[in-house]
Amino acid sequence: MENINRVVTLGQFIIERQKEFPYSKGQLSRLLRDIGIASKIVNREVNKAGLVNILGDAGATNVQGEDVKKLDVFANEQFIAALNAGGECCAVASEEDEDIIPIYSEISKDAKYVVLIDPLDGSSNIDVNVSIGTIFSIYRRTSFNGPGTLEDCLQPGSEQVGAGYVVYGSSTMLVYTTGHGVNGFTLDPSIGEFCLSHPDMRIPENGTIYSVNEGNYVDFPEGIKKYIKYCQEPDKKTKRPYSSRYIGSMVADFHRNLIKGGVFIYPATGKAPEGKLRLGYECNPLSFIIEQAGGKSTDGFNRILDLKPKTLHQRTPVVMGSKNMVEKVEEFLRTYSPVKPVEYFIG
Ligand code: AHG
Ligand code: MN
Ligand code: MN
Repeated sequence: MENINRVVTLGQFIIERQKEFPYSKGQLSRLLRDIGIASKIVNREVNKAGLVNILGDAGATNVQGEDVKKLDVFANEQFIAALNAGGECCAVASEEDEDIIPIYSEISKDAKYVVLIDPLDGSSNIDVNVSIGTIFSIYRRTSFNGPGTLEDCLQPGSEQVGAGYVVYGSSTMLVYTTGHGVNGFTLDPSIGEFCLSHPDMRIPENGTIYSVNEGNYVDFPEGIKKYIKYCQEPDKKTKRPYSSRYIGSMVADFHRNLIKGGVFIYPATGKAPEGKLRLGYECNPLSFIIEQAGGKSTDGFNRILDLKPKTLHQRTPVVMGSKNMVEKVEEFLRTYSPVKPVEYFIG
């Protein structure tokens, strides 16, 4: 047969890539597969989100007499259920749960991994039909047996063995890395499979997009204010003025910048001196991906992946994206805001 493009599904790709881990017995591959399956279930519900008003509001009962759950609660339950049933995960830390969820059962007694997850990112965009996502981060446990522990979930991002995100957008995509580059898969709803559509993703070293919530401008550090003004100044050589693009779903802003080149900034502010975004399940996984794609991610001063987490829901300022753009932001911060708003804890 000739000229028939071979479609590579996520499942096939994961199996093919397994040879990059010669000593692994396939547990990480199974874990990734489980996350992929759960995200398809979440995708199905996300696509129905606009129907909530005719089926019944969140917290109410729908016409079938079933409880209607908020999507972020639903997504959280789906991912936890998949990780519980998969047998490869010994603890989950989720944005939706104060404490870790230890897992220990007959099938998971040899589980080697912990997963940190933001089940639904950009949840304020659900009701307005704007892209939202899921972000996940995978570590090898450091404890030896029994259910996973808090310490297993508080490792620096540099210890991640896998990370990824799903963006529920104009199409649904899953993008992940296991430390050997970044690959993206688009969900083909007609066959219900994620298909390899973006092999070996690389972020351009320079970009012309800056993404920051400028509504907080007056509260930003001087270095960020000056950088924003720099983005707006005309300059042929650097293709300025840059375009401002801010969706308000970190995953979606990140995904666009990864493909087109750009910088995403959520700085420390006067009101939130540690920034808003979470280190464990937002900044670390996306930092692992951006570095694997040739980009850079810092808190403005230090590499995000080197920060040593102290608590599960810890926040950090973040500057991530095209390498040269991130370095420019760092230069502005060093020059105009040399005093860090909070003391950081380097691993
Ligand atoms: P989540 O929906 O998981 O709570 O995350 C929302 C986050 C992130 O997705 C986004 O980049 C940021 O909040 C937007 O915050 P602002 O509205 O303050 O810009
Ligand atoms: Mn989030
Ligand atoms: Mn969330």
